[in-house]
This record gives sequence, structure tokens and C-alpha cells, in this order.
Amino acid sequence: MSVRWQSLIAVMLAGLLAGCGGDASKARFAENSALAKQLLPKARKAVQKTLDEHFGAPLDSVAWLKLPVNYGKAEGTVKSVDGLKLSVEFNKEASDVDGLTSPELARAGLLFTSGVSAGKQVLLAKFDPKTNVFEALQTLDSPPAKDDTFVAAGHFLRHGRKLYARHCQHCHGVSGDGDGTTAKYLNPRPRDYRLGVFKFTSTGSFPAPIKATRDDLKRVIALGIPGTYMPSFVPMLKENELTAIIEYVRWLAMRGEIEKGLITELKGEYSRDRSKDEGIDKSLETYLGEAYPNFVNEIAGEVGEKWSGAEEEGTAITPKKPRTQDTAESRHRGKELFLGNKAKCVNCHGPAGRGNGPMTEDFQKNPTTNEVYAERGLFDVWDQPIKPRDLTRGIYRGGRRPIDIYRRIYVGIKGTPMPGNSQALSEDEIWDLVNYALSVPYDSQAPKLPKPHSVAEYSTEHGHAN
Ligand code: HEC
Ligand code: HEC
Repeated sequence: MSVRWQSLIAVMLAGLLAGCGGDASKARFAENSALAKQLLPKARKAVQKTLDEHFGAPLDSVAWLKLPVNYGKAEGTVKSVDGLKLSVEFNKEASDVDGLTSPELARAGLLFTSGVSAGKQVLLAKFDPKTNVFEALQTLDSPPAKDDTFVAAGHFLRHGRKLYARHCQHCHGVSGDGDGTTAKYLNPRPRDYRLGVFKFTSTGSFPAPIKATRDDLKRVIALGIPGTYMPSFVPMLKENELTAIIEYVRWLAMRGEIEKGLITELKGEYSRDRSKDEGIDKSLETYLGEAYPNFVNEIAGEVGEKWSGAEEEGTAITPKKPRTQDTAESRHRGKELFLGNKAKCVNCHGPAGRGNGPMTEDFQKNPTTNEVYAERGLFDVWDQPIKPRDLTRGIYRGGRRPIDIYRRIYVGIKGTPMPGNSQALSEDEIWDLVNYALSVPYDSQAPKLPKPHSVAEYSTEHGHAN
């Protein structure tokens, strides 16, 4: 497709995807009111308006093409037109319709890219995937003709939303704020995606945390998080369903981050406590009319870049050396490190790894605000109290493969006080800690090793807690 069409689609999609009416579509995403209430009411409204415009509502989503979300796109050619019915053929190479059995292409929009209707859009009422027949919601002044080309978009997002509503929403909330109807009964709480922080990733955190990759999210959704209420969804969800849900989760996370970014920006000048300041209304009006639209684009660009950055090759933390042989010596070295001053694991996890180290008894400082917490113990970035893992139980939330534990120690656990050690410890030292940590539940001597040539096999296939 030509560049001209690409950019036209980018401009028009927002309008196209804002689907049809109906009462349900009036449901809105919940505001991040804890933050937004700090703004002048007019500034608060401006943020809401921006989000409505670029993301729409749960049942009326808008695909903001600036963001690296795979919204689902389908290109094709009109085969015949019969009133409101359009029979089409998809261009398989440029269409993500494979495996999409549900009629999510309905409620999407079609943009014609050639013929008399070129540049015109039509909203769809129905799509029958068996016959590839669309039914339009309204007639076009100049109906398309055979062989006219079109592009439709947004069906992945819609598919994702539907599945999310069914499987995830009661815990994670309509807007991904982790505050669904079941959430209040759960500890740990379901993830609030809006900070864009995910714990169990393959990616690094030094010098700055890298986002979760699609594969990281897939792993967590497929396998669940052991020891928490987060269930595993394989084989319940099929591959294409997982793909659609992952895009939806990423989209909600980006929405939340952009909301936070906008509020933070506006709070500088237009916080609620300035409501009596002279000329503040005028100043806000000028800002909203001039610099604000650029800022909206800027923040979306920044957030988007972080998410696409995670997908670049080489972001996964992969040790250069394979796992150190799991010997009594290695475990011993690991234990020394665990208890010692270099790795400081003992401060949180305690001498026996039970998760009751001295830091859980002291008052800690909030690393963002530098204020001392009102209660003893550790807190995460979602302001929830959090306990270091009791390593004697052998339950690993981020996966129990040695590489998972390696990554937890190397990167730390994002959003939690569990720190990374990429600078403080060598690969060998981290592997020793992995061997030790995995031995804690068994509290036994390392197994006698078999003949050297089968050692690698032994440690990956029969090792404890593998
Ligand atoms: C019964 C409640 C429940 C349901 C249903 C549920 N989750 Fe979760 N989810 C949780 C909890 C609790 C956590 C937090 C676990 C933790 O912090 O260790 C979580 C965490 C997550 C995370 C964060 C992973 C990370 O690395 O930080 C993602 C992503 C996620 N869930 C996606 C989903 C998706 C997608 C669905 C639906 C297909 C879903 N969840 C359904 C409870 C639930
Ligand atoms: C400042 C406190 C702190 C220090 C220091 C610390 N941890 Fe942790 N650790 C935690 C917390 C909190 C969690 C639980 C995070 C979560 O999953 O929500 C955790 C979780 C873990 C887990 C469980 C991972 C999983 O997938 O469930 C392992 C293993 C672990 N830590 C090992 C270590 C080792 C080894 C060290 C030393 C190199 C260390 N920790 C240092 C706080 C700490």
C-alpha cells in the first residue's frame, strides 16, 4: 500500500473505529482518580477528553496508530456489492484474519483505498467469516464497485477486549487498574497494569527498566503465577486468543501510562491548590490550545518507544555461561553469598530463607517520595505491603526453571524491593545463588554427581525444583 494511504489510514482510523452507538458503549474506562483529583477541574477534564479521543471506551475502542499495538488489520478487494452487503476477498499477506473465527470484524470500519469511494469509510454491522461477507451499517453515497480495495482494522483489539472481559476483568478491572470485583478479596492484588510495570520479565532493569515483551506476558498468562490467584489459561485459551488478549493488556497498560504522564505534566502548573490564583484559567486555556497537543503526542511517542524497545532483539537477559554444575561446593558458595554483605539477600529473606529478614521488621523509605512508610516492612510500587519470598516453600512465581531464578536475581523483580544484581555479582556468583536458592526447600546436601558427560542433562532434567 502506498505511503499516502498509510498516513490517511492513520488519520482516519480513530474515526473509523469509534464504532456504533448503543447503551453498552457508553460505559467508560475508570479515571485514575487518585492522581486526577490533584488537578484543577478543567485540567482534569482535558485529560479525560484526550483519553476518550485516543482510546475511546471499552466497547468503543479507538486504535491509536502511534502506539505499537497490533490492532489487527485486514486488506482486501471487493468482489460484489448487493445493497448493504459486500462480498470481499482478503489479501492474505496483509491481513491478520487467520484463525479469527468470531465476527470481530463487525463493528470495525472499512476504508476504501481505490475506486469511486476511495478515502470514504463505512461502518460495519456484521461480518460472516465463512462467506467473507460484510454488512454495512449505512449506505455510501457512491457505492464501491468490484475490484475496489479496502482496509479494515481494529479487530484484534475488539477480540482481545471480549476475551479480557470474560476471563480477566473480574480481577484486573475494566481499565486494567487491578480493581475488578473479585480483587478486594485477593492478596497479592491483581496487577494494576496502568504503571506499565510487570514483574516477571526476561528483560533487564539496568540502567533503566525495560518493559515486558509479548512473550513474557504470554508466559505469565499461559502458565499463571504459582502461589497467587493468577490462574493459568492454557489450554483454555487458543493461540490466537492469547495473542489478542496480550495486545489488549499492552494497550491498557499504555493507556494508563499516558494518563499518568498527562496528569503529572499538568500538575506542575495546574494543580488543584492553584484554583484561586489569578489568571490561572486563562493560562490553562492557552496551554491546552498551544503546547498541550504536542505534549500528548510526545508522551505517547515515549511510552510507545519503551514498549517497542522491549521487542528488539537482545533485550532478554541470557547468561553467557551455562548453569554452574549443581554441586555441594556451588551451593555452599551460594549460601555464603546469600548470607554475606555483597549480595545482602539475608537482609530480606532471613538466614534460613524464610522471608523474615531484618528489613521486614524496620521502617523503610518510599524510594519515589523518600518518605518513611507508616508501617514496618516492605512495599511495592503499587503501595501494597509485600513480603520477601519464603524460599523454603519452593514456589516460584516467575517460573522455576534455573534461568527464571537467574533472571530474578540478575534483574531483580520489577516494581518490588527485590533488587537487581547485574552490577554487584558475576555470572558465576549468580549461578551459585541459583543453585543455593533452588536447594533451600530440600535443605539437603547436593546430590552426588553422575559421570561428567551427563552432568548438563542431570541438572536441567532431574535437578530439584526444575
Ligand atoms: C482470580 C484473579 C485473576 C484472574 C481471573 C486473572 N488474573 Fe492476572 N493476576 C492476578 C494476580 C493476583 C496477579 C498478581 C500476582 C503477583 O503480583 O505476583 C496477576 C498478575 C497478572 C499479570 C502481571 C504479570 C507480571 O509479570 O507482573 C498479568 C500480565 C496478568 N495477570 C494478566 C492476566 C490476564 C490477561 C488474565 C485473563 C486472561 C488474568 N490475568 C486473569 C489475578 C488474576
Ligand atoms: C530488599 C529486599 C530483598 C533483597 C535484598 C532480596 N530479595 Fe529476593 N525477594 C524480595 C521480595 C519482596 C520478593 C517477592 C517479590 C514478588 O514476587 O512480589 C523476593 C523474591 C525472591 C525470589 C522468588 C522469585 C520467584 O519467582 O518467586 C527469589 C528466588 C529471591 N527473591 C532470591 C533472592 C536472592 C538470591 C537475593 C540476594 C541476591 C535476594 N532475593 C535479595 C526481596 C528481596
